[in-house]
Amino acid sequence: MSRKAGIQITILVDNTVLSSSPANLIAEHGFSALIETGKETFLYDTGSSGFALLNNAHRLKKDLKKIDAIILSHNHSDHTGGLLTLLDYMRRDIKIYAHHNIFKKTFSSKTKKTTFICIPFAKEMLESLGANFVFLDSQTKIKENIFLSYQIETSNDFEITDQKLLKLEKDGNLVPDTFEEDMSIYFKNNDLLSVLTGCAHKGIINIIEQGKKLTGSSKLDAIIGGSHLGPAPKEQQDKTIEALKALDPERVAFVHCTGLQMISRCASELKDKFIFSGVGSTFEV
Ligand SMILES: [Fe+2]
Ligand SMILES: [Fe+2]
Repeated sequence: MSRKAGIQITILVDNTVLSSSPANLIAEHGFSALIETGKETFLYDTGSSGFALLNNAHRLKKDLKKIDAIILSHNHSDHTGGLLTLLDYMRRDIKIYAHHNIFKKTFSSKTKKTTFICIPFAKEMLESLGANFVFLDSQTKIKENIFLSYQIETSNDFEITDQKLLKLEKDGNLVPDTFEEDMSIYFKNNDLLSVLTGCAHKGIINIIEQGKKLTGSSKLDAIIGGSHLGPAPKEQQDKTIEALKALDPERVAFVHCTGLQMISRCASELKDKFIFSGVGSTFEV
């Protein structure tokens, strides 16, 4: 399987800074990755505070003022909370690709007190700082060989969304979130498919299967990003790992909401295919 000179993905925000990373990088609960094609630069998510994003980009010599667009994986604040700080830093208009439902109200019931976990800013406030939202209603090719998944369809019966993450219904009730806005990025390099996820709330296997259909590539190269396997029930973890082994990707770099326990388990099960990753990790796809 051949791979031409590719696109570079650099993790800018993650829960982990590896000891082999350059000095003065900051970890925080959240995720952000920079995508550099050689011509264009896209930022996928912004982390939770904005401070880790700006610090880590600076330390890794990445100029965020030059990005061509921002892509949001979903509305959770650990992926969107850095938007205000980033826009304030950039001080110019910037295109933001997101699912049309990105401003829905969501909550977490993981602790005793239900907490508000969606975008912590009003749309109008972000627009006043330069945000130019492009609300998607279908799968979208943003560049040659880069595709946004739009909504993820269900292709198996074992990937159940996290029942402790809730959305606010029109009638005022909180019900389990169904994550329509969960959006991943697919990269096609010749016949190889790579996948970049935020939290993979709709299930990493569902996301991969949709990418295979969308790109026409069935051979998997790199699977990078949050997997949300950490909070999943044991049976779901087991079945997901088995399905992932059957899909046989070349590289797996689960980070963020995968959690340390599941990162360790994936490393032991996927052996040399698994890459321990964190802030500053880079991948060519
Ligand atoms: Fe997350
Ligand atoms: Fe999330």
